[in-house]
Amino acid sequence: MRVFVAGASGAIGSALVPQLIDAGHEVVGTSRSSASADRLRALGAKPVQLDLLDARAARKAVLEAEPDAIVHQATALASARFGRNLDRTFAQTNRLRKDGTDALLAAAWEAGARRFVAQSFASYRYAREGGWVKTEEDPVDLDPPAAMRETSAAMDYLDRAVTEAGGVALRYGGFYGGSNDGLVGPVRKRQMPIVGDGGGVFSFVHLEDAAAATVLALESDLAGIYNIVDDEPAPVREWLPVLTKALGAKPPRHLPAWLARLFAGEAAVAMGTQARGASNTKAKRELGWMPRYGSWRQGFFAAYAPAPSAERPNPQASANSAPSST
Ligand SMILES: NC(=O)c1ccc[n+]([C@@H]2O[C@H](COP(=O)([O-])OP(=O)(O)OC[C@H]3O[C@@H](n4cnc5c(N)ncnc54)[C@H](OP(=O)(O)O)[C@@H]3O)[C@@H](O)[C@H]2O)c1
Repeated sequence: MRVFVAGASGAIGSALVPQLIDAGHEVVGTSRSSASADRLRALGAKPVQLDLLDARAARKAVLEAEPDAIVHQATALASARFGRNLDRTFAQTNRLRKDGTDALLAAAWEAGARRFVAQSFASYRYAREGGWVKTEEDPVDLDPPAAMRETSAAMDYLDRAVTEAGGVALRYGGFYGGSNDGLVGPVRKRQMPIVGDGGGVFSFVHLEDAAAATVLALESDLAGIYNIVDDEPAPVREWLPVLTKALGAKPPRHLPAWLARLFAGEAAVAMGTQARGASNTKAKRELGWMPRYGSWRQGFFAAYAPAPSAERPNPQASANSAPSST
């Protein structure tokens, strides 16, 4: 297939492009900057510079590419600062998820593309009541904290628009395994505490696994919503200490919920104490997806622990082979 990947130079796009090419597909990949275009060329894609918020430019780029399939991975989070107002942090991404999706869907229809797959998000999406691990059938949070209402609404919009058009919305877990993973800086600086009882459940996915699921979704004839998350949704109090260990950082601080509410706002408290995780049963069953990193327990160490150096001397071996001084 000829696949048009919008946002091909981002965290997930950079993992996806090589996997698509390995699977025998031709890739036309978009970025905004020319530096990213050079990287895309090096990965084997045909680069196209595009501001997806310019609907006419998006239409032109898609029609010129004549794709069989379109993947929407454009977000604007690379240099985002995560403060107490998530909607401010995600404002540009929210536009890409609404207007960008509309532009790509219209162009896909006009170009006759058969498949459409888009990036959605599973973590902090589901209703914060009942069971701690949710399937795609479970309701999303209809009453999110005020600071993330627009962000939730943009993801709901994308899920609805894409699936109504016969496409696939992939609700990825929190990404890790890339060069600019969002959690690494704050966790190293001990800016991410365990809030209250740390019971909020997160779902993660390694970027290579997320990319593999995306290829499977493209190659299938399925439509709908799929959680693309690893096998072990877990509360913050479990995964955060493991992440600090994998990073060689100091253990996380603990913060009472009332204090976190004061400094970081209600959204941070809701995520840390009430968030629900997601189940990958449907993706495994229907897409035949099997994550290589079944759990962040192995994945964090694979992503962040320094690789053992082949050059490093083995003191035991040196001792054994040391020539005798007598
Ligand atoms: N995806 C999420 O929901 C999410 C949530 C929380 C944290 N994070 C973290 O955020 C970091 C960045 O992840 P990311 O890959 O999602 O974002 P990204 O690095 O910003 O990349 C997204 C892609 O979209 C492109 N893009 C940005 N604005 C565009 C526009 N107006 N029109 C067309 N294309 C545009 C970028 O092009 P250029 O390369 O040219 O800029 C890039 O190809 C990661 O560390 C991730 O862990 C992501």
